[in-house]
Amino acid sequence: MSTTSPTTGIHCYRDEIETALAEGLCFGSDCPARLREAMEFSLLAPGKRLRPQLVLLACEVCGGNVRQALPAAVAVEMIHAYSLVHDDLPAMDDDDLRRGRPTCHKQFDEATAILVGDALQARAFELLATRIEPAECAARCCGELAHAVGAAALVGGQAADLASEFQRCTLAELEAIHRRKTGALFRVSLRLGAMIAEASDGQLAALDDYADNLGLAFQVIDDLLDVSGHEGTMGKRLGKDSGQGKNTYPAILGVEASQSLAEKLVEHAIIALEIFGEAAAPLRELALFVRQRNT
Ligand code: IPE
Ligand code: IPE
Ligand code: MG
Ligand code: MG
Ligand code: MG
Repeated sequence: MSTTSPTTGIHCYRDEIETALAEGLCFGSDCPARLREAMEFSLLAPGKRLRPQLVLLACEVCGGNVRQALPAAVAVEMIHAYSLVHDDLPAMDDDDLRRGRPTCHKQFDEATAILVGDALQARAFELLATRIEPAECAARCCGELAHAVGAAALVGGQAADLASEFQRCTLAELEAIHRRKTGALFRVSLRLGAMIAEASDGQLAALDDYADNLGLAFQVIDDLLDVSGHEGTMGKRLGKDSGQGKNTYPAILGVEASQSLAEKLVEHAIIALEIFGEAAAPLRELALFVRQRNT
């Protein structure tokens, strides 16, 4: 376990994750130096690593060998890092600060940032396809991840988020955006870990329930932190959502109702873990961290 993490947060398997992330970027000399540097800059920047921890903790709670799930943990963090690099581009949220550093397109340039995202996404699938065993499990992991980050989920949610700027959404529409742009990657992170552990249908269903509640809570809290968080601890610009006409929970529901919704969602996430008993303590701790996070 890591105690030297540059960010606060929970720390399950942090050393293993950091080492595996760096190893995941070992390309031959055919990878141009500037692209490699920008990929390292974005992927290895100090993030909370929640999604890879979810992969490993799901594998663990279902009785699997955590080491076998490491490539999947790296894959979901690569997808997440790519989604942040693209989310920050001028054509999307137009941000200049991420993880306490300049955004990828500010540190490098826009074309490089687009290509970093493309290459991280491709690498994620390469790792799943080649490092997960048996081959049937690798294929299933690739299929599930592709769906979760594609047009009907993460990318679709991002498209709907942008399309709804300055157009008031209903609460149901906003929930659907948040579940796709953020919740889907939480859900698939847990599913990959569980599938590698050969989880039962009951275990998978419980983890889906946990993920659906936690993923929505996470984005509701992200919206709240945009209103009331501190840029220093968050490492990104805040107070931007309203100026960009974003639909957010505090804008539609108000701050207090959004806070109590987030708390209820986290409570439900924790209840979903009951079938695992004490073995789910780290997943419970992660949910509690999400509820009170300021990073
Ligand atoms: C930020 O995710 C993007 C959202 C889905 C709101 P995180 O807050 O997990 O970002 P890092 O990985 O810790 O930087
Ligand atoms: C980002 O949502 C979701 C994805 C990157 C898929 P936000 O746009 O709210 O995330 P931040 O606030 O920039 O981190
Ligand atoms: Mg965005
Ligand atoms: Mg953004
Ligand atoms: Mg946000």
